[in-house]
Amino acid sequence: MKNLNREELIRRALEVQKNAYAPYSGYFVSAAVLAESGEIYTGVNVENAVYPAGICAERNAIFHAAACGERKIAAIAIVAGMQGENLSYPSPCGICRQVMREFCNPKEMTVLLARTPEDYREMTLEDLLPVGFGPEYLK
Ligand code: THU
Repeated sequence: MKNLNREELIRRALEVQKNAYAPYSGYFVSAAVLAESGEIYTGVNVENAVYPAGICAERNAIFHAAACGERKIAAIAIVAGMQGENLSYPSPCGICRQVMREFCNPKEMTVLLARTPEDYREMTLEDLLPVGFGPEYLK
């Protein structure tokens, strides 16, 4: 796996944040996933007039990676803010934490909650989703 360049991953997320489609909440979220292949996949939140039909940026980025054939992710960088003004560190929702759990080792998966490439909090998925249910339970 390619080495994790934290600043680059955050920059990739920041690059697409303007593409978030958030006319209802005004909360612009974007994410960049580093997959085992070394490729980076991005995603943004995409809302819908039928509110529950919208989807978070993190899941869009992870599903983007999965659709391109990836099955293991090493890291994700997330940025978020009202109208794209990233005043605080993002916090991924519970469903997105669960989706991350599917494609990683939670103790090794790096989650970067970022404001800028230099200003971020670093956690593992295990920190964010302790004692999570994952694919190994169904083997
Ligand atoms: N949102 C995300 O994209 N990721 C999160 O982790 C939290 C929430 C989106 C969903 C919705 O479009 C907007 O932010 C407000 O909840």
